[in-house]
Order: sequence, then C-alpha cells, then structure tokens
Amino acid sequence: MRRAVCPGSFDPITNGHLDIIERASKLYDVVHVAVLINKNKQGMFSIDERIELIEQTTAQLGNIEVESHTGLLVDFCRDRGIPAIIKGLRAVSDFDYELQMAQMNHGLTGVETLFVPTSPTYSFLSSTLVKEVASLGGDVSHLLPEVVHGRLVERIAELRR
Ligand code: PNS
Repeated sequence: MRRAVCPGSFDPITNGHLDIIERASKLYDVVHVAVLINKNKQGMFSIDERIELIEQTTAQLGNIEVESHTGLLVDFCRDRGIPAIIKGLRAVSDFDYELQMAQMNHGLTGVETLFVPTSPTYSFLSSTLVKEVASLGGDVSHLLPEVVHGRLVERIAELRR
C-alpha cells in the first residue's frame, strides 16, 4: 500500500484543503488526513468536530483515513509506515516556513515532503481568513463544502449568544 499524509489544523476544512486531499487520493492507495492538536491554540471547532467534517466531505473518495495526533508529525508517519507528507503551496509566502518544516522533518526521520501547487481559485484561502470574514458577515459559502459552511454559520451564531 502506498501511503501519504495530508496534515493540518483543519479548523475547519476548506475547499482548498479538499482540493489537495482529492489530488493526493488519486496518487496514493491510502491518504491519511492528520488533524494535529496544538495545545496552545484554542480552535473554533473541537478536534472531534473537525474529524467529523473531514470524514463527511471526503467519504466519496474512498481511500481517506482521518485521525487526530498530538506531538510530532514525523512520529505519526513512522508509526503508520507513511513515507510522504503532502502539502499544498498557495503562494511564495508559504514556501519559507514549509521548506523549513520539510527539511526538519526529513532530517528527523527521512520522511519526504511533496508540495502540490494549490489551485489558483484557492490561492488566497485559509481557515483563519474564512472564519474572520464569516464572523464579520461576509459570504464565504463558495469557499467551503456546504456542510462545513452550515456548521460555521451555526457556530458563529452560538458564539454571539
Ligand atoms: O494547518 P496548519 O496549522 O498550517 O498545519 C501546520 C501543521 C499542523 C502541519 C504543522 O504545524 C505540524 O506539522 N505540526 C505538528 C508538530 C510538528 O511536527 N512540529 C514540527 C514541524 S517541523
């Protein structure tokens, strides 16, 4: 089985994430989507909610496994025999930090990082921006799967109460 991982915070999953996961799913037998837990960051969605939304929106692909992980991404990869990390690159500004992480991860365990250029439609897209725009009343429905958009609108309303 050829395996790869798409890691991230996924708070929440966007159409940009989905684009990368779908493209990875055509290249590998199994694609693991790893929701990395950052104890210093309070998310808008719980880890279980993020996992549920990823599972719902990737179910049709048929070769996606979704899990959370605390700690180093390289340990997640080593424990599951995953030799490749797939990362979307939106713009040159992503490259500096992504290169540092790729080199660090390779130095730690030899795991490779493969960069996939994001579709130009999503080159400006991030979960953080989507949450900010939606919180301020902007329409982000074209940037998220329908189920995710519905949950985001609900969550913003709950936070206002
Ligand atoms: O969606 P994000 O927040 O841009 O994803 C970043 C993420 C979670 C992929 C990155 O921070 C990560 O790999 N975290 C796991 C902890 C780790 O391995 N840190 C060392 C990186 S060299």
